[in-house]
Amino acid sequence: MSAVAVLSLKGGVGKSTTVLGLAGAAWARGIRALVIDLDPQANATVALDPPPFAFTVGDVLADGRPGIAREAIVRTGWGPQVDLLPSEEAVAHRNRPEGADSATRLRVSLAGAVDGYDIVLIDCPPSLDELTRNGLAAADSALVVTEPGFFALQGATRALRAVEAARTSVNLRLQPAGVLVNRVRGNLSEHRYRIEELRGVYGDLVLNPVIPERSAVQQAQGAGVPVQAWRSPGAAEVSDAFDDILDRLLT
Ligand SMILES: Nc1ncnc2c1ncn2[C@@H]1O[C@H](COP(=O)(O)OP(=O)(O)OP(=O)(O)O)[C@@H](O)[C@H]1O
Ligand SMILES: [Mg+2]
Repeated sequence: MSAVAVLSLKGGVGKSTTVLGLAGAAWARGIRALVIDLDPQANATVALDPPPFAFTVGDVLADGRPGIAREAIVRTGWGPQVDLLPSEEAVAHRNRPEGADSATRLRVSLAGAVDGYDIVLIDCPPSLDELTRNGLAAADSALVVTEPGFFALQGATRALRAVEAARTSVNLRLQPAGVLVNRVRGNLSEHRYRIEELRGVYGDLVLNPVIPERSAVQQAQGAGVPVQAWRSPGAAEVSDAFDDILDRLLT
């Protein structure tokens, strides 16, 4: 089992889309994934179309006992391959430090609860506060998502610094999984330029392939199904890209 925290400091760049794309890649392969939604916006939770749930990741963080996450994990509308530790708006109350063990509560709560999964995907909110710190403390690796825009390099640098800070404080085994560039339009020279700029600084840490911008992403999310289940040329392109990224995360 490998646990990957997906983060960015900037909002709306595609963290939840990446988590859902990778969960969908697992779904398509028939391997088991757990999505942990740490974002009070609960976008990943909604897109995974779960049945009504009693507990959320907020309850898990409040309780904090080893293994307690098991009580809050639910099935999803995607079928038996993909499970969910759901979020809701009230999880925002847990975004401040509380006590000495504050940043490691998620990790402790997952003890023994995630052994049956091939991959755990943690969707972080667009900040570096306590919820994201919990995500980084519970992960084996951290995947930084960015768009190929003017702030891409600066944003990636800050996010990678946060990963390094988490490694030296709460999680010695944390590794950067890479920088994933999302919403790429291959015909735009500005996008090519920004990707080259990132590669110039971070080399192989900038993942290949990049994720193209395709309307199928939003269509599948709106329908509550994996993009891998959507039938269009754009959906196939996005699915192929996430499949390659999943390969890289699993090795
Ligand atoms: N590759 C893509 N092609 C088309 N639309 C995309 C793509 N990636 C993301 N989007 C759309 O952009 C919007 C923002 O993406 P997403 O919610 O994944 O970002 P986020 O980083 O999780 O945002 P937040 O910081 O608010 O949590 C969504 O409507 C999503 O469907
Ligand atoms: Mg999100």
